[in-house]
Amino acid sequence: MSDFVSGFWDMYVAGLVIVSIIACLILLVLSGKAKAMTASDNTTGHVWDGDLREMNNPLPRWWSYLFVITVIFGFGYLALYPGLGSYPGLLGWTSRGLHAAEVKAGDEATAPVYARFASMTTEDIAKDPAAMAIGERLYSNNCAQCHASDAQGNKGFPNLTDNDWLHGGTPEKITETITGGRIGNMPPMAAAVGTEEDVKNVAQYVLSLSGSPHDAAKAALGKEKFAVCAACHGADGKGMQAVGSANLTDNIWLHGFGEKAIVDMVNNGMQNVMPPQAKLLTEAQLKVLTAYIWGLSNKS
Ligand code: HEC
Ligand code: HEC
Repeated sequence: MSDFVSGFWDMYVAGLVIVSIIACLILLVLSGKAKAMTASDNTTGHVWDGDLREMNNPLPRWWSYLFVITVIFGFGYLALYPGLGSYPGLLGWTSRGLHAAEVKAGDEATAPVYARFASMTTEDIAKDPAAMAIGERLYSNNCAQCHASDAQGNKGFPNLTDNDWLHGGTPEKITETITGGRIGNMPPMAAAVGTEEDVKNVAQYVLSLSGSPHDAAKAALGKEKFAVCAACHGADGKGMQAVGSANLTDNIWLHGFGEKAIVDMVNNGMQNVMPPQAKLLTEAQLKVLTAYIWGLSNKS
């Protein structure tokens, strides 16, 4: 409600609410007084199914009182809780406040569980079965929708179990990735490479780097063109974690295998985004989750 730019809508909404409640009350009183047309035998004259006649009996008292009670309840509720325009209510209750309080209570309740891990190293936490059970749940809740429930990823979403890292697999780098997110940014390179043929040759050269099936003659032609790629992928094609460029020699393909996939990468480039997760996790959760991810590819 505080988003209203003019006070008018605030009053308008509050006015509508009060008028509606009063209108209910008036309707109740009037309908109690209204006389239905009745025959002398106290029936309304409506007959169904041959002989089912509608009588004109008043509502039971307790029933009418229920209506009055709901009206009184309505006013009481509106005094205590937000409901009248932007009036916040005497209790100052907000759904955001409730959520924050519940999150705080939850964090306090779990703090003793996490306390044990505070002084442990990533390596030790990764060996702790209780910590790994927690890590697995944190992973399922926050990460599985993108990296898959077995953490083996999918096209565009890296496998976290294979010890092949775009951005680095040390605990520090993993924490950095989780908190700040990552953008894997490869610009479209076709213009820098040259003709369509040149792009295909470079793709064949890239395939040769991982020993994948390729056309050796075309790859030899593409090798020279790879110079424009080397700035990010390194002269040897092994990638640079500082720029998040992929290792092209390991036969692990984030964006698909084969000449067409590589040509598409070169022609269109790629903006692959992992959103920052810092707000979703407490410090303690982050530490355990980092150890869980680290442990996936560093089994002891
Ligand atoms: C909305 C989808 C999405 C969610 C949610 C997500 N990720 Fe990611 N994550 C990605 C993408 C996409 C990348 C690849 C970024 C790139 O190409 O540079 C990535 C990259 C990573 C990397 C770096 C991998 C590497 O090779 O360096 C790690 C580690 C990671 N995510 C862990 C997590 C964890 C842990 C969570 C849960 C807290 C999580 N991700 C949640 C999409 C997501
Ligand atoms: C400005 C830096 C930059 C340049 C130049 C560059 N790349 Fe990339 N490339 C990247 C990044 C970053 C990624 C990872 C994208 C991601 O995280 O999803 C990538 C990914 C790729 C992939 C996908 C790898 C996979 O696992 O699926 C291929 C193939 C590729 N590059 C080929 C090339 C070729 C060929 C060239 C030269 C014509 C080139 N790149 C030039 C930054 C670059």
